[in-house]
Amino acid sequence: MHYNQGFGEMLQCLLKGNGVPMILGIETSCDDTSAAIVRTDGYVIGNLLINQDEVHRPFGGIVPEIASRNHTFYLLNLIERLLEESRLGWKDIGGIAVTNRPGLLGSLLVGVITAKTLSLAKNKPFVGVHHLEGHIMAPFLSDEKHKAPLFFKDPFLALVVSGGHTALYRVNKFGNYNVLGETIDDAAGEAFDKFAKMLNLGYPGGAVIDRKAQSGNISRYNFPRGLGKEDNLNFSFSGLKTSALLQLEKMSDDEKSKNISDLCASYQEAIVDSLMIKVRKALKLYSLNKVIVTGGVSANSRLRFCIEKLAEESIEVVIPPLKFCTDNAAMIAYAGLKRMEANEFSDLSLTVSARSELGHV
Ligand code: KG4
Ligand code: ZN
Repeated sequence: MHYNQGFGEMLQCLLKGNGVPMILGIETSCDDTSAAIVRTDGYVIGNLLINQDEVHRPFGGIVPEIASRNHTFYLLNLIERLLEESRLGWKDIGGIAVTNRPGLLGSLLVGVITAKTLSLAKNKPFVGVHHLEGHIMAPFLSDEKHKAPLFFKDPFLALVVSGGHTALYRVNKFGNYNVLGETIDDAAGEAFDKFAKMLNLGYPGGAVIDRKAQSGNISRYNFPRGLGKEDNLNFSFSGLKTSALLQLEKMSDDEKSKNISDLCASYQEAIVDSLMIKVRKALKLYSLNKVIVTGGVSANSRLRFCIEKLAEESIEVVIPPLKFCTDNAAMIAYAGLKRMEANEFSDLSLTVSARSELGHV
């Protein structure tokens, strides 16, 4: 990342002193196209998103080529609409933040090239943002409907759990993270989606499984908790997937449909339990008493229930509203703003990367 002291000071002056406290965020790391405008205090002025679920549904998963092509169709229009709906012009934008890692390379490229072009055309500084750093900033966003927690300070534990990522971080302070554990194979959301595919429940399948599980028995089927007994803080969901496949192979279509709620509840419990085992272990091991959960799977009602229950053990819990948990450009804008406040900027040599370690440029 490029460091430019003079530019940074100028931007801080612009951001803080002269009434231009806004950053444009761009997120295109996967299949969601999103643009947002966020103030220096984390207040989200506008956050627009175009979801491609319908387009990828027939394929049972994301087709990278289609995702990136759609970003090229949507992104510029979305940014124009965002400015219009926010009643703002380019003069109000202090800088541009764009996700440049990790993600699908073609998708990331669309966002990064757009950010570079706008930076040149509109004469704005820009910065590349790590997608997971964006997720970690989600709890600190606010808008007219939602206030950010006032006294939630680092250090804290962050569980980032989505269709692409499942990881635990110790957040020491902004920009300083320890990766405590991560999945060694599938992400938790992927595990939900694959089970939904086995049951022909459509894509993405997490929300459907969550719904079907509501009336099911969580202990009817005995699915494994991958790495649950291991000392490390990593996750594994591939054994669960195989075990579920073997279970379904033993059942007729009629049996599957009669027992769908129990199947979903037991499978969901195995995922949530695997996550909770490691969250508890991490809190204890690192003497932390605060935890945030973010990423699309944080929508899961059973996971929310189990995490919120930690509050009974004097653990402070923050689960941001879903619109800030799932992929969105507001979290990217805010993370980018923090980077710019620390005098970190990118230049035209900024590249994209599929790698996911936080801190890797
Ligand atoms: O964060 P996200 O919107 O996109 C990325 O993957 O980065 O997360 C999407 C994932 C999908 O795998 C979807 O099945 C899962 O989040 N998901 C859920 C629920 N809602 C969405 N998983 C379990 N329960 C839900 N209610
Ligand atoms: Zn994400």
